[in-house]
Amino acid sequence: MSEGDVIVGITGASGSIYAQAFVKELLFEDLTVHLIPTAHADVVWRNEMETAGERPRGEADATTRWRSRMIIPAGRLEHLRVYADTDVAAAPASGTFRARAMVVVPCSMNTLAKVAHGVADTLLTRAAAACLKERRPLILVVRETPLSLADLRNQVAAAEAGATILPAAPAFYHRPTDIAGLVHFIVSKICDQIGLLCPDRIGYRSDAAE
Ligand SMILES: Cc1cc2nc3c(=O)[nH]c(=O)nc-3n(C[C@H](O)[C@H](O)[C@H](O)COP(=O)(O)O)c2cc1C
Repeated sequence: MSEGDVIVGITGASGSIYAQAFVKELLFEDLTVHLIPTAHADVVWRNEMETAGERPRGEADATTRWRSRMIIPAGRLEHLRVYADTDVAAAPASGTFRARAMVVVPCSMNTLAKVAHGVADTLLTRAAAACLKERRPLILVVRETPLSLADLRNQVAAAEAGATILPAAPAFYHRPTDIAGLVHFIVSKICDQIGLLCPDRIGYRSDAAE
């Protein structure tokens, strides 16, 4: 583990496509991705990213399933590690795991609430708690609308604890013409937060100044 390692949590909020695009970016940047999907992330992914005909036949194990969902450059498969969210003893749970940053994308209000209040009963929430206590960057790409008072208060509490709240709210001033353009905007914002340039690897480039 090193500055070349990034922990990526995927939760059951809408926006699975953001996770796919961001992980692709990290792998193309020669970083190692430690992926922690929640059980609900799996449900939402099936809803948003797969049609019945595209679903793999039979029950692949979770690592194989999640790897098959990502866009992995040639020769980089070993740089995508997938963990079970139930495996609270896995390496990212420890404060000694020196990741460059952790990004939860997309981040549900459920996971936000847990992170905001120090609940660490899963690998994802424990890894987030470890980042906060070690003062490592933690970016929560929250997705919900409208926001309840509890959601708003939880965002403040998470920010006070040291997390960055990055709403999955694309802008339109760069005149996106398709979904890739909207996704690229959010992925670029996440990359900015962890010190990466985000080139156009998801098929979108705007001519407009940002
Ligand atoms: C299709 C679908 C879309 C959802 N979208 C959101 C969402 O955008 N934001 C959110 O906070 N929860 C959303 N949920 C609800 C979460 O999946 C649910 O609260 C779950 O408990 C989150 O668990 P997790 O944080 O462990 O992933 C959605 C659920 C489904 C089935």
